[in-house]
Amino acid sequence: MSVRKINALDELGKGLLKDESVFEEFIQEMSVTVTEMFRDPSFYKSLRNNVMKRLATYPTIKIWIAGCATGEEVYSVAILLSEYGLLQRSLIYATDINQKSLQTAKEAIYSISDMKTYTENYIKAGGVKSFSEYYKAKYDSVLLDKSLRQNIVFSAHNLAIDKSFNEFQMIICRNVLIYFNQSLQDKVINLFYESLCSLGLLGLGNKESLLFASRRKHFEEIVSKERIYMKMV
Ligand SMILES: C[S@@+](CC[C@H](N)C(=O)[O-])C[C@H]1O[C@@H](n2cnc3c(N)ncnc32)[C@H](O)[C@@H]1O
Repeated sequence: MSVRKINALDELGKGLLKDESVFEEFIQEMSVTVTEMFRDPSFYKSLRNNVMKRLATYPTIKIWIAGCATGEEVYSVAILLSEYGLLQRSLIYATDINQKSLQTAKEAIYSISDMKTYTENYIKAGGVKSFSEYYKAKYDSVLLDKSLRQNIVFSAHNLAIDKSFNEFQMIICRNVLIYFNQSLQDKVINLFYESLCSLGLLGLGNKESLLFASRRKHFEEIVSKERIYMKMV
C-alpha cells in the first residue's frame, strides 16, 4: 500500500482485481525470493549420491524446478547434471510466479560478493572442481557459463492455479510450500504427482514433507532427511 500510496484496504483490493500491473507489483513485493547456489548443501549431496544414477537411466531427462526465484538453484542443478555428463540430454523447466525474479534468473548475472558462500556450499555439496570455472567475473558481477544456460526454459507458472504442462523425471520444489496453507499444499502435491512419470522423483528439501499430504501413500521415500521421494505406480 505504501509503494502505491494507497490508504484504504478496499482500494488495494479493487486495484488487485482490476489492474494487472497492481497485481504484478503486489506479487513482486510480497513473494519471498531468498535463495542461493547450492543452498542446503546436503540436499545436493543427496542428488549426487542417490539421484544422478537414477536420472542417468533415462534417454532424455526433464526436470521441473518450481518456485525457482532468481535461478541460483536451477544453475546449481545444471552444474550437477553437467558433472555427471547428463546436461546435454536434460531439459530444465524453471518456473516462478514472480516475473522480476525470472528476468534475473534468465540473465544469470549475480553479485561477485556471493561467490565465496556459493563456493563453500558447492564444496560442502561434494563438488570437486574449481567453482570459478562456472562463471566469468566482470567488475562486481559474475555471468554464469553459457553451457549451463543452454538447456533451461524459464517461464511464469502459478502453482496455486496453473495446470501441469509436461511429464517430468524429477520435480524439485524447495522452500515454497512452507508459504502455503494445508489445502494448497495438498493441491500442489497432486499437481506434482500428475506431472511425474512413474518412478519419477520429487525433491522437497528438509523444510517440507509429504507427512500430511493425502498423496503420501503414492510416494516412497528415497532420502528421508532431504525429503526426496519416488512416485509409485
Ligand atoms: C524462498 S523462494 C525459494 C527459492 C528456491 N526454491 C530455493 O529453495 O532457494 C520461494 C519462491 O517461491 C515463489 N512462489 C511463491 N508462491 C508461488 C506460486 N503460487 N507459484 C509459483 N511460485 C511461487 C516465490 O516467488 C519465490 O521465488
